[in-house]
Amino acid sequence: MHSVAIAHPNIALIKYWGNRDDELRIPANGSISLTLGGLENRMSVRFDERSEEDSLIINEVPAEPQMLERASAHLDLLRGMAGVAAGAHLESQTNFPMGAGIASSAAAYAALTLAGSSALELDLDQRALSLIARRGSGSAARSIHGGFVELLAEDSNEASYAQQIASEEHWQIIDLIVIVDEGVKHTGSSIGHTIASSSPLQEARVKDAPRRLLACRNAILERDFQSLAQIVERDSDMMHAIMMTSEPPLHFWSGKTLQVMAAVRDLRARGASVCYTIDAGPNVHCLCLPESEQDVLQAVKNGENGSLTVLRAQPGPSARVV
Ligand code: DP6
Repeated sequence: MHSVAIAHPNIALIKYWGNRDDELRIPANGSISLTLGGLENRMSVRFDERSEEDSLIINEVPAEPQMLERASAHLDLLRGMAGVAAGAHLESQTNFPMGAGIASSAAAYAALTLAGSSALELDLDQRALSLIARRGSGSAARSIHGGFVELLAEDSNEASYAQQIASEEHWQIIDLIVIVDEGVKHTGSSIGHTIASSSPLQEARVKDAPRRLLACRNAILERDFQSLAQIVERDSDMMHAIMMTSEPPLHFWSGKTLQVMAAVRDLRARGASVCYTIDAGPNVHCLCLPESEQDVLQAVKNGENGSLTVLRAQPGPSARVV
């Protein structure tokens, strides 16, 4: 009753913010992401029939009680399906900084769902895995698949699963993640989702989501970078407008975030294939085509920003048991 799985984080190209059902983590709107190869979570799940307690180690350190509680609740879903009561020992290892707006929960819950179900010998397909992963962390549903992925947000639990739009081979988009602030803990997504509807702008953002999803899907399928850049930046800005105007307001951008955003826009105006997108943190994901990669690095690490850390990811594969 032991299994190890690897899953990658993902960056949302069309983002969701706010849930239509917080309990089931059904998002308010559909979303599209790119699975990030090169960055990974490796999760070991070992069930022990002699114990009913769970334990969780994250990067060699025992996890805080709320983290363990959330993971235990997720394991309960799998235990319920398998008719098992055994406690589990979880060990989670990531190769990228956590809590920095690089969805570490997405990779962790995708890997936990896969390793847990495999250890319990539940034979689940990717649709079923994504439904369960979504209940651990909404964006984790997308990390079950590789490449370009869409998470459907429908009325029911069963209809809100993730599916692949195009594989990781389809289009070589590089994500250069500029870490402008590694340490600071901001308001987590789970809290953010519960207050999204307090922004008067949220209704308009959700209503317009089908149009943005269509534009993004088409840009991906046609490998049309200019169209992708426009819709991705607009979608990211719209989500941050909700965050800034919710009650209480959430401001994730720092001065350096704005500097990098400006550098990216400026570079694109001069012909480079690059755009930015930002999750619930200050760090900037610079999505670019390989031919623009060196120019992007040079532009963002300009002057006083020379010492900023930049992580690199490329389209990555689906979650898998190792
Ligand atoms: C800004 O999946 O992190 O990254 O279910 O509370 O874990 P929880 O939420 P989470 O929310 C994702 C928010 C986002 C946008 C996105 O990935 O679509």
